[in-house]
Amino acid sequence: GIKIATIGGGSSYTPELVEGFIKRYDEFPVSELWLVDIEAGKEKLEIVGNFAKRMIEKAGLPIEVHLTLDRRAALKDADFVTTQFRVGLLDARATDESIPLKYGVLGQETNGPGGLFKGLRTIPVILDICKDMEELCPNAWLINFTNPAGMVTEAVLRYSNIKKVVGLCNVPIGMEMGIAKLLDVDHSRIRIDFAGLNHMVYGLDVYVDGESVKEEVIEKLSDPENSSFVKNIDGMGWEPEFIQSLYAITCPYHMYYYKSKEMLDKAIESSKTEGTRAEVVQQLENDLFELYKDENLNIKPPQLEERGGAYYSDAAVRLITSIYNDKRDIQPVNTMNRGAIASIPDESAVEISCVITKDGPIPLVMGDLPVAARGLVQQIKSFERIAAEAAVTGDYNKAVLALTINPLTPSDAIAKQIVDEMMEAHKDYLPQF
Ligand code: NAD
Ligand code: G6P
Ligand code: MN
Repeated sequence: GIKIATIGGGSSYTPELVEGFIKRYDEFPVSELWLVDIEAGKEKLEIVGNFAKRMIEKAGLPIEVHLTLDRRAALKDADFVTTQFRVGLLDARATDESIPLKYGVLGQETNGPGGLFKGLRTIPVILDICKDMEELCPNAWLINFTNPAGMVTEAVLRYSNIKKVVGLCNVPIGMEMGIAKLLDVDHSRIRIDFAGLNHMVYGLDVYVDGESVKEEVIEKLSDPENSSFVKNIDGMGWEPEFIQSLYAITCPYHMYYYKSKEMLDKAIESSKTEGTRAEVVQQLENDLFELYKDENLNIKPPQLEERGGAYYSDAAVRLITSIYNDKRDIQPVNTMNRGAIASIPDESAVEISCVITKDGPIPLVMGDLPVAARGLVQQIKSFERIAAEAAVTGDYNKAVLALTINPLTPSDAIAKQIVDEMMEAHKDYLPQF
């Protein structure tokens, strides 16, 4: 039978994943699902794990669910390892999102200083998981959802021996769904040629039944209503002059770079009113876990859609089933570039439309990004690489360098101050420094 190990099993997203396995059981018959967490997440694991068991029982499927704090037992002979953990939990995210604001820099969990520090905390853990996998399940696929997913995939490709790794984000599928809705067509008729990096991905073209509708979609991106496709980012709409001459479909995270001032002002403003996103999410999470505790609940509650990771299960399970069944359909994932985007190094991670085979994703050759996008994408890739290097080596100077070259940081001196304060705040989770 198929064994899945899910690390960070206490996540409120676990019911998403379980729903995905239930829906696709016919083509992907999971026999064991091992949900792994740590002592700090034990209570969450119990609640969400028992809810997962009820979902499976209701579906009448023979999937065994194991809840454990023993990662090695879970990894033993696993076929697929999915990772969705958050080192330091939401408290660490709140720190990532609030400290930078004091220095007039965006506080966000995957961009700027927050992205750097989430990476510094996460990369040592993922590399440790990779080592365990080499020993306990060398043939398994690692499907990483843990943010910053692009930087984490880059680190696994460069610093581990695990080659069967795919990084996954729900933004591309969210863009497909959002554009389908904009155009009022079923999402199965939409295809987007994706190319770029995680949270820095562009749609180079978009088709309905194979006909390009790029012009129409680009026009709609000027409307704030239509310019974000995820719950955690409010759309602000693009200046028509800008978006029409960029002539690529942006992802919601581009607003942090092309509307830096407005997004920073908004982050400062909302930190004073509703709190940082971490605080909003903490409340959502508390509400979700209250629901999950209800013994009568046995299907995924709609409230989960208030989280930014909507469609995660669709993205994850469609990927895994296509690998398992050698489906050779096209899906956007994070994988090694191998020449698919000309201006990105061959061995770096990119987020790109791929053919999904039993041997993994094969990126579609995209030529290159628009000239206007190329420089920023390269800069973000340099940031990811230097951040990953800092995470692996524990080199403080490299951490300052990474933050200084990040486009959201105004100066080296400010970078250093932020690094110092954040190193101190996160020191329990940064053993390498
Ligand atoms: P969460 O705060 O609920 O954390 C999930 C679980 O991870 C917790 O139960 C926690 O105890 C556990 N955990 C922490 N450290 C661990 C470790 N060392 N080993 C095993 N488990 C550990 O987080 P969440 O909001 O459910 O998000 C989970 C992760 O998924 C985050 O990294 C988040 O950024 C990421 N995410 C990614 C996307 C994407 O597009 N790739 C979308 C949404 C969320
Ligand atoms: C999605 C992203 C994730 C991100 C999440 C945040 O937009 O793809 O990478 O972490 O939403 O959602 P949250 O509800 O935790 O703010
Ligand atoms: Mn994402």
